[in-house]
Amino acid sequence: MNRGSAIDKYEILIVDDTPEQIEMAMLVLKNNNYKVRVSTKGEAALKLLERQKPDLILLDIFMPEIDGFELCRIIKQNDEFKNIPVIFLTSSDDEQSIKKGFESGAQDYVTKPFNATELLARVNTHIKLKEQTESLYLANRELDSFCYSIAHDLKAPLLSISKLIEYLSLDYYDKLGDDGNSLIKNIQKKSTELTAIINHLLEFSRMCEMDMKLEPINLNNLIQSVFDELMLAQPERTAVLDMPRLPEITGDGIMLRILVTNILSNSLKYTAGRQRAEISVEYTGHQYDYIFCIRDNGAGFDMKYSARLFQVFQRLHSSKEFEGSGVGLSICQKILKRHKGKAWMTGETDNGASFYFSFPKNNK
Ligand SMILES: Nc1ncnc2c1ncn2[C@@H]1O[C@H](COP(=O)(O)OP(=O)(O)O)[C@@H](O)[C@H]1O
Ligand SMILES: [Mg+2]
Repeated sequence: MNRGSAIDKYEILIVDDTPEQIEMAMLVLKNNNYKVRVSTKGEAALKLLERQKPDLILLDIFMPEIDGFELCRIIKQNDEFKNIPVIFLTSSDDEQSIKKGFESGAQDYVTKPFNATELLARVNTHIKLKEQTESLYLANRELDSFCYSIAHDLKAPLLSISKLIEYLSLDYYDKLGDDGNSLIKNIQKKSTELTAIINHLLEFSRMCEMDMKLEPINLNNLIQSVFDELMLAQPERTAVLDMPRLPEITGDGIMLRILVTNILSNSLKYTAGRQRAEISVEYTGHQYDYIFCIRDNGAGFDMKYSARLFQVFQRLHSSKEFEGSGVGLSICQKILKRHKGKAWMTGETDNGASFYFSFPKNNK
């Protein structure tokens, strides 16, 4: 770990109602250039947290009023504090407490009485991990906005090119002849495809940045209305949608409509070769979340390549077979991540595909 002046900026909050026991911890940390604050009560610790966010918390288990487990849960449920690493202070061989500590969201534990080297090593490790996570997060945000600006900047010239081609084909139709006009048609088709990809990319970046407005969502209505809307654009198709009564969930209405649109447009796209497209929705309830499944009887895919499905621009079918940009599923994953859910797919070549997603029951 980088020693010396750089470490000065790190602040450790020790929460323990028996300060004499933590004297040694304070000494070791201060000698290693950490700033240390101490609180002897859970409530006071929360107030200290609000005033200034520490880089790491050392938390005793047994305290009057709010105990360590409860305090840890409160910290981990708060969006502002949840990324602060928490290390539990526990008496040795207390298996039960260690288990409960991890369950309440702590990252690690040290046993009392402290071993100075061990305490310092664990603190250093978690501070370093937190720094790396933060810099990864920032790098990711930078990539997202980079992706947005590229897509955004490409859009205007691309629109001009499409317009120019349109003028060319209108004004010079006779002069261009059959070969020329067929070339122009191809260019027009490609530029429409490129515009779709760019719009998809813009949507992907928007899902990363957009503020969320949580509201109750009636999934049955949402899925039915997206299905009807998609079918309006392809009235010649025969498709049936089968779904049970689904539970109400809490999420961002705009994002969830985009999610369902992407899922169902895939189901309809990859069943295009079927006389009768069959789409069914199922769900199961678990302790903390629901798992929803949207299944179709379409072209399916080879599970060997399933790891690539959710990556931007990755497609398992060729554009000749099915048109597409390969961004839809990445948008779905982004939307679900922002709702603390997760998406995955299963499928079998020529035997349909299932899109699964988990969604927290309590998303407040
Ligand atoms: N319902 C489905 N059935 C079969 N394959 C699917 C299905 N949904 C997605 N896929 C596969 O996942 C790939 C990525 O999907 P997506 O990101 O929506 O891109 P796109 O639909 O534009 O190709 C698709 O190209 C396709 O190979
Ligand atoms: Mg798609």
